[in-house]
Amino acid sequence: MGYIRELIQQLEEERILPRKELTVLLEEHTPEDDRYLYERADRLRRLSFGNQIYIRGLIEFSSYCKNDCLYCGLRRSNSHAERYRLTSEEILDCCRVGYQLGFRTFVLQSGEDGWYTDRRMCDLIAAIKQEWPDCALTLSIGEKSRDSYQAYFDAGADRYLLRHETANACHYARLHPPEQTLASRMECLRSLKEIGYQTGCGFMVGSPGQTAAELADDLLFIHEFQPEMVGIGPFIPHHDTPFAHEAAGTVEQTLFCLALVRLILPGVLLPATTALGTIDPFGREKGIHAGANVIMPNLSPSDVRRKYMLYDNKISAGDEAAENLADLKARMEAIGCQIPVSRGDYRKI
Ligand code: 5AD
Repeated sequence: MGYIRELIQQLEEERILPRKELTVLLEEHTPEDDRYLYERADRLRRLSFGNQIYIRGLIEFSSYCKNDCLYCGLRRSNSHAERYRLTSEEILDCCRVGYQLGFRTFVLQSGEDGWYTDRRMCDLIAAIKQEWPDCALTLSIGEKSRDSYQAYFDAGADRYLLRHETANACHYARLHPPEQTLASRMECLRSLKEIGYQTGCGFMVGSPGQTAAELADDLLFIHEFQPEMVGIGPFIPHHDTPFAHEAAGTVEQTLFCLALVRLILPGVLLPATTALGTIDPFGREKGIHAGANVIMPNLSPSDVRRKYMLYDNKISAGDEAAENLADLKARMEAIGCQIPVSRGDYRKI
C-alpha cells in the first residue's frame, strides 16, 4: 500500500496529522488516492447522517460591503457592483416561501453593511423566530463586536458562519487589505463559539498564493477549533477585482479538502457549496460523495440574485434555486440520498 494511503488511514484513526504529513498528502495525492479517500469520507458521512442531506435556504439580503477583500466581487472598491438591500418584509417573504418548500433553516447572508444596525438585525431575527419557531436561523454577516454577536444570539440566532478564509497570517495578508487581520477574524470565531452559536469557519481552495502548506494550516486550525460547520469552496476569479486574472481552484483539490475535513470531524455539517456547483455541473453530487452533507439553495428574490456576485458566473438558477427543490430532490434520490424536512442541527459524535 502506498504512503499516501497510509497517511489517509492514519488521519482517519487519529483525526489529525502533523503539518508536514498533511502537506505531503495535499501535494502528492493521485486520482487513485482520491478515490480511496472519498470512499472513507462517504462512509463517515453515512455513519453520521445516514442517507440524509440537509438543506438551508440562503437569503442574500444586502450586497453592500465596507470591506475590500481582494478576491470578492462585493468589495467596496468595486464600483461596478450593483448594490441592493432587502427590506425586513422582503426577507420575511423569502422565509415564507422557503418554509412552504420545506426549509427549516434560513441563512441570512450579506456584505458588512452598516445600514443593518444591531437594532435592525435583532428585530429581524426576533420576527423570523417568532413566525417560524421550529426553524433554525444562521447568520453570515461578517465581523462584529462580541456584544453584537451576543445581542443576535439573545434575539434568537442559532448559528453563525464566518469563514476564516486562510489560517496562515501571511496568506491572509495577501488576500486582504491591512485593516483586516487574521487575529481579528480568529477573535470573532472564538467569541461566537463561547457565546454558544453552532459556529462555522472555512476557506477557499486555490486562492492566489495558497500552497499545500497553507491548506495544511487550515486543516490544523479546523482540528483545533472544532467548528460545527465548515464551508469550503474553490476560489473563482471575479473580473472586477485585483485577482481577475488569477487561476481558479480546482474541483479535485476542493473535493480532496472536503473529504479530509470529514475525516478530521466526522460529525461536522459540511456543505457542497455554490462555488463547487459553479465550476462543475455535478459539483453537488461529487461533494456529497467526498463527504459533504449540506446543500444551500438560493432563496433570495430572483431579481437580486445576479447582483450578489462574489465571483464570475456564480450560479443561481436550476437546482441552485430554492424554487426548484423538486429537481434537487430528484438528483439526490438518484444518488440514494433524501432531503428531510428538518433543522438539521449539529450533533456531537
Ligand atoms: N471565489 C470563491 N469564493 C469567494 N468568496 C468570496 N469571494 C470569492 C471568490 N472570488 C467566499 C468567501 C466568503 C464567502 C461568503 O464567499 O470565502 O467568506
